[in-house]
Amino acid sequence: MQHSRFPLTPVTQSRLAQVDFDNLGFGSTFSDHMFSMVYEDGAWTNPEIMPYQALAIEPGVAMLHYGQTVFDGYKAFRGEDGQARIFRPDRNASRLHDSCQRLCIPIMPLAELTEIMLQATRELIELDHAWIPSQWGHSLYIRPLVIGTEATLEVRAANRYRFLIMTSPVGSYFNNLQKGVSLRVEDRFTRAASIGGLGAAKTAANYAASLLPGAQSRAQGFDQVLWLDSNAHRYVEEVGAMNIFFKIAGRVVTPPLGGSILPGVVRDSALTLLRDWDIPVEERRIAIDEVIEAFRSGDLEEVFGAGTAAVICPVASIGYQDEIYSIAGTPPGELTLRLYDELTGIQYGKIKDRHDWNQYVALPD
Ligand code: COI
Repeated sequence: MQHSRFPLTPVTQSRLAQVDFDNLGFGSTFSDHMFSMVYEDGAWTNPEIMPYQALAIEPGVAMLHYGQTVFDGYKAFRGEDGQARIFRPDRNASRLHDSCQRLCIPIMPLAELTEIMLQATRELIELDHAWIPSQWGHSLYIRPLVIGTEATLEVRAANRYRFLIMTSPVGSYFNNLQKGVSLRVEDRFTRAASIGGLGAAKTAANYAASLLPGAQSRAQGFDQVLWLDSNAHRYVEEVGAMNIFFKIAGRVVTPPLGGSILPGVVRDSALTLLRDWDIPVEERRIAIDEVIEAFRSGDLEEVFGAGTAAVICPVASIGYQDEIYSIAGTPPGELTLRLYDELTGIQYGKIKDRHDWNQYVALPD
């Protein structure tokens, strides 16, 4: 084990024996330990690793009322070679930094945040290595969270914060690589404002805004929402909590990052792989009419979502204005499957990590 840097209070009794690794679901089980740091009197202090536990929070804490909270998510995978691979955590540190800045959270400089996040993640993984699932498709999901903890009802940035990193053994977010998901195009509610809003930040408000349309979609028999822009309700933005890709007549199109869309790490990885493979890629606005038009002309070859939780998720059908458009062929499409296989291959150590995306932690036997 490498030298640990943060003070540690270990659990007196591990909860590991209670975990049903065959029925993990997503994010309902938390590993024994978490990392914690506090911000007070203008400085980030007290980094430590402690048992995962309830927080004592006053009801008057502004974060509970006004939503000054950001999070991120990345994964560690158990490789057959006895190493855990953490997939691109530096990108998540950078996005967490951006999210904090947008939410007016006085985060530490990026280099320091990255270093602390990586070190804390390594120490958590070493300590709770037995919590990393071994089944293919399963992983240890790592969830950093920054919350304002000052009790005040004034609408302003808090002067006290807590930075936590918890980990959770997870199964696949959707169990549907073969079936694909059905989408309903949401043309009334939006996930985030197209210009000047919070869409690019990983913050609670965007997920809160998605709950009602998500529930309405499920009540109508759809799995996920396909989000449109908030101005014209015309341009495709995201799918559920993922980035969206369309393969149209041999070219892959995905909406550009422009402030309203989450800069997904898997989105970036998929774009890199597609470019490696010389597949034409376009990051550009795509109207829902263009998607329907491509469907009608037979040019819409594949549709898939990309995200940390689901990795690559095939889309089987799109419901828009009382019509259901079933994407050709049986999911997953050829390119969708190629991306899924390549990404998971890199994450589990079966395929060479040409871009140095993984960070490695040696696991005890
Ligand atoms: C992701 O897959 O990137 C997510 O953020 C999903 C999470 C909100 C469950």
